[in-house]
Amino acid sequence: MCGIVGYIGSNNIKDVLIEGLQELEYRGYDSAGIAVLQNTDFAVYKAVGKLENLRNKAASFAPEGFGIGIGHTRWATHGKPTELNAHPHLGQSSYVVHNGIIENYQELKNELVAQGVSFLSQTDTEVIVHLFEAYLKTAGSPFEAFKQMRARLEGAYAILLVTTSEPETIYFAKHGSPMIVGRNRGGEKFFASSDSPLIGLAQEVVYLKDGDFGYVTPAAITLYDGSGNPAAPLFSTLPESKLSAQKEGFRFFMEKEIYEQGEVLADTMLGRLKEQEVYFEELDPQLFAGVNEIKLCACGTSYHAALASSYLFERHARIRTSVEIASELRYKEPLLSPDTLFVVISQSGETADTLETLKMAKAAEMKTLVICNVDNSSMVRLADASILTRAGIEKGVASTKAFATQMAVLWMLSLAFAKARGTMETGAIAEQIRHLRELPACVRVDDALHERIKRLSKRYLHGHGFFFIGRDVFYPLALEGALKLKEISYLHAEGYPSGEMKHGPIALADPELFTIALMPKNMLYDKTKSNVEELSARDSTICAISDKPFEKADDFIPIHDREHYMLEFFEMMVVLQLLSMEVAVRLGNDVDMPRNLAKSVTVE
Ligand code: G6P
Repeated sequence: MCGIVGYIGSNNIKDVLIEGLQELEYRGYDSAGIAVLQNTDFAVYKAVGKLENLRNKAASFAPEGFGIGIGHTRWATHGKPTELNAHPHLGQSSYVVHNGIIENYQELKNELVAQGVSFLSQTDTEVIVHLFEAYLKTAGSPFEAFKQMRARLEGAYAILLVTTSEPETIYFAKHGSPMIVGRNRGGEKFFASSDSPLIGLAQEVVYLKDGDFGYVTPAAITLYDGSGNPAAPLFSTLPESKLSAQKEGFRFFMEKEIYEQGEVLADTMLGRLKEQEVYFEELDPQLFAGVNEIKLCACGTSYHAALASSYLFERHARIRTSVEIASELRYKEPLLSPDTLFVVISQSGETADTLETLKMAKAAEMKTLVICNVDNSSMVRLADASILTRAGIEKGVASTKAFATQMAVLWMLSLAFAKARGTMETGAIAEQIRHLRELPACVRVDDALHERIKRLSKRYLHGHGFFFIGRDVFYPLALEGALKLKEISYLHAEGYPSGEMKHGPIALADPELFTIALMPKNMLYDKTKSNVEELSARDSTICAISDKPFEKADDFIPIHDREHYMLEFFEMMVVLQLLSMEVAVRLGNDVDMPRNLAKSVTVE
């Protein structure tokens, strides 16, 4: 999600900024822009789409000598990807770039509009620059105004701000979104959202902490901590390879993406959780009106998210919910009635089969909603409404964080539906919201757990097959666990409902059949346990994942004692992701780019 760069120096400002943005492309974006300040003159360029468009627009711009600059790749959250909504955003004499979401922007905007300020964009970001300028009128200095402005912001942000009254200074603030500041022996200073733009340019960097803010000039980096006390910048040296910088020290993109699930889930929920209700700003409340049924449709991992959420929609919103595999729905001459909400789920928004079913639903005059990770994708453009999952770009072909964010959105949506239909007490919704807030901590990877899974993985490299089993939402999770293992280890794995094993698959049970049993304390524990015992009695090798020790298991992966089964769901999801990754690593496979698979399947 969004990338930020900044530069202070005399070496070809434009190229440093645009090349820096290029390095941040992997974060995903749909528009980009730069602002360069030399003396008191700003040069600003913005373009929708790829950086090539920005490069073309700025082709005749050739700044010479000293200057300061900020740049941004925007991944739309508030407002469509248009040039007006692209950063940097202008006040009267200042520009700002921002990554994150200002949750109280509407309140700040109302206040500024009442003072006569006019807004050009639909973004939350624009309030930052106007608020800064409002304070600048009375504050003794731009830094004082910046501090006062920062104190008003709620939500998540990494901010760079430049203003003509101090043309050698970049003001910065970080809270919840990444930001690094760097320097080199030549006195140049740099900012970026991650290491990779800085490699080869800066020798030393400071990884800013939440709450940090301050300003940078050609002479110095001045830093304050979250309590407003001066702080000494803690410099580290940069890694040498760009690819490893993009992986931020992880061995694979998949590993990095598993580890960043806490961060992206926090982004997914940002601004969407109130005390007693879930709120999707992008949804017209009319979307729920007259809807008597939900039909969910997707492919691959997204299909598993659909299936898991169908339990939540029926349980929370008491609404009939069906789930379809897109390639099947296309040709089954389905009954598509206008009182059914048709929901497609897609990480890419481009999967051909899913897109086609969306067209069918539109033709049948159904209300349509897409849950997607890519704004402006074909599905987002086509559907009546969309909810973005905000996972940031996912590079590993085996989907991890995209699935996690889809599940979070779907859980939230089931509560929004429940509220609209009056099927859950306010207190019960508030209780689930409290659990949703626990998600970022719940998916955090514990070193000891990862180490345990790494060690265990060596026992699961052979055999004649894996059965991942679970009940209720843990059945779709079992399907997803099996799919992850198949995709990257090339071992045969199936997901199955625990209670269904005795109707056939149990015939396969022997010590070379591996059963990965999902045994959550809060969902049908005793029922699942009986099913696992049946397999254990037939000598299948059992790996149990549970917070309750299970004596019949050959291997046991413990999870934390949780109060809600969905928290167990998310924690087990991480265990399954790590297990498949470690098995694949031991087998020497290409974890990020498994054979025969594509990240986005745009053919039938
Ligand atoms: C491909 C990918 C899967 C993904 C599926 C659906 O098969 O390899 O990881 O789940 O497509 O993709 P979508 O972008 O629609 O979620």
